Amino acid sequence: MTVSLKRRIVPSALSANFAQLSRDINLIQKAGAESVQIDVMDGHFVPNITVGPVVIEALRKETSIFLDVHLMIENPLKYVEVFARAGSNLLTLHFEACSNAKEAIQVVKKLGVQVGMAIRPKTQADVLFPLLDQLDYALVMTVEPGFGGQVFMPEMLEKVKALRARLDKSGKPCELQVDGGINLKTARSSAEAGATSLVAGSAVFGAKDPAQAFKEIQKLVQ
Ligand code: DX5
Repeated sequence: MTVSLKRRIVPSALSANFAQLSRDINLIQKAGAESVQIDVMDGHFVPNITVGPVVIEALRKETSIFLDVHLMIENPLKYVEVFARAGSNLLTLHFEACSNAKEAIQVVKKLGVQVGMAIRPKTQADVLFPLLDQLDYALVMTVEPGFGGQVFMPEMLEKVKALRARLDKSGKPCELQVDGGINLKTARSSAEAGATSLVAGSAVFGAKDPAQAFKEIQKLVQ
């Protein structure tokens, strides 16, 4: 495991109690979480529908936590401004939903928020290589996007290793994030492959004691 890298567990609100979202987020922030991932789904890019900018706006008033907003939506450039204005700290778009990823990154950067680019399981890691010097986050999905509680796809770690090698060579500060099926069993191999940001939904918010669950996984990877 590369000792110098700081690794963070990012709880995903997808498995939180949506009727008590800010309470759940404050709970994990108190436990030490520096960011929370809000999964935005439009029923087109993925076969599920979750939340829009109005929820980001409401959460922004309730919490100071870093809002990592994962846009699993078609035509993300149509919505990045409203999500940025709503209070997102990071907007991660899907490479597969961008007609020109390089341009999309510039549009998001101009909004004054951090920018990430995600790839689905079927998309090769090398599509991100030319973008790494512009990105704050590169996200390798370790499940098919759309739902929490799915089984981790270990074969995705080859992509994480390839991206880690590129990032180490370039010295660029881009975070390498994994998302999907991260728990006490899979967090270690993901960190060893080079991930620095590990999104965990059901392993945290699906636990009896989310704060304790967060602390346990975080301790495992740092
Ligand atoms: C997939 C979602 C999930 C979620 C994490 O579209 O992005 O990956 O954040 O879910 P778990 O940790 O339950 O797999």
